[in-house]
Amino acid sequence: MNILILGSGGREHSLAWAVMQNPKCDKLIVAPGNAGIAAIAACAKLNILDGPTVVEFALENSIDFVIVGPEAPLAAGVADTLRDANILVFGPSAAAAQLEASKNFTKEICAAAKAPTADYAHFTDAEAARAYIREQGAPIVVKADGLAAGKGVIVAMTEDEALAAIDDMFGGEFGSAGAEVVIEEFMEGEEASFFVLCDGTDVLPIGTAQDHKRVGEGDTGPNTGGMGAYSPAPVMTDEITRKALDEIVRPTMAEMSKREMPYQGVLYVGLMIKDGQPRLVEYNVRFGDPECQVLMMRLGAQAMDLMHAAAESRLGKMRVNWADDHAMTVVMAAKGYPGSYKKGSRINGLEDLPETSSEMCFHAGTSETDGHITASGGRVLNVTARGRTLAEARDRAYAMADAIDWPEGFFRRDIGWRAL
Ligand code: AMP
Ligand code: GLY
Repeated sequence: MNILILGSGGREHSLAWAVMQNPKCDKLIVAPGNAGIAAIAACAKLNILDGPTVVEFALENSIDFVIVGPEAPLAAGVADTLRDANILVFGPSAAAAQLEASKNFTKEICAAAKAPTADYAHFTDAEAARAYIREQGAPIVVKADGLAAGKGVIVAMTEDEALAAIDDMFGGEFGSAGAEVVIEEFMEGEEASFFVLCDGTDVLPIGTAQDHKRVGEGDTGPNTGGMGAYSPAPVMTDEITRKALDEIVRPTMAEMSKREMPYQGVLYVGLMIKDGQPRLVEYNVRFGDPECQVLMMRLGAQAMDLMHAAAESRLGKMRVNWADDHAMTVVMAAKGYPGSYKKGSRINGLEDLPETSSEMCFHAGTSETDGHITASGGRVLNVTARGRTLAEARDRAYAMADAIDWPEGFFRRDIGWRAL
């Protein structure tokens, strides 16, 4: 099978790594890819937000199966354009991708599906939103309706913070994403991410993870795209997992099918768990980054068969071969991230790192300049390892991180502290 993966981050490097281990993969191209991906697969420059361009490239390169990594091409309808051209694709339609692209859409679906989630109200008018905040009081959560690169959520501990968020959003801080806002009840509890493959009919859980969103140790400081993750998430017991499937995922999928927008792809289910009850925080229509890296390390080559089965609506016949293992990924970021940071610093020591089925340094934001690997993003490397216990996975991951010589980078020393 000839496979095309769309995307350029650590998530896509880990997807490519898993796919390359599967003997059914004859050829792999990643567009646009990065310097780490280029070491294991062909990379191609391509505007992945433009459906016709992707279709043309897929036909020219005899691609049998396309895996879409990030949400932007999905929200832009690239999966629809591929399907219209009879090219097999893993990833939801633009209509189904509203589960991530519109907070208000998701809230309406949850209400219709009776899926437990925070109470909410939806506003297109700043004055009405302010009045609602004054009436509800703090803590309260203000969300820009549209895609805002993970920055459109303000968890406001005071009324003033919430009111300031309304000013920012209606003031255009998030562009068109903030022209509508959702204001939600603040939920307490422990967060976990639950990943489920869906094929429009059947659902298949493929793992759980927890990530660390704050930049600083002890989960302090500004929010980031994620500074590290581990799998499985201990809070996701069998009972919580069953509840999340029966009360949240399956009713959502049924509601999507009823609305003639069946969901196919991976559903990232962000949960808040309190007193044995999971409630939905958010859906994403793609793998998490860096959560994907720990899932791929645990699933290995079978990940490709599972995604292929989801795309061909054969999930009902599939099973996951679970190993009783743990994985951890530690994100190495450029100093200054998530604020401003320099690009172009040189990273040494990568060539001496182990590359096994239990240890891999995935590249998130790297380029190759004059034969050297350089940093070209905020989150730059995802040092990922597997072990029989989480402590073993952690020790392996940090041994690799310590062996990397990159003075312009930093990482958190305490990934997994809650679980350890
Ligand atoms: P989201 O982009 O919806 O995942 O929100 C980002 C983060 O904000 C989540 O991972 C939670 O930590 C937090 N968050 C979002 N909604 C709520 C809520 N209703 N109550 C408490 N925390 C929330
Ligand atoms: N790590 C969080 C996300 O991918 O949305």
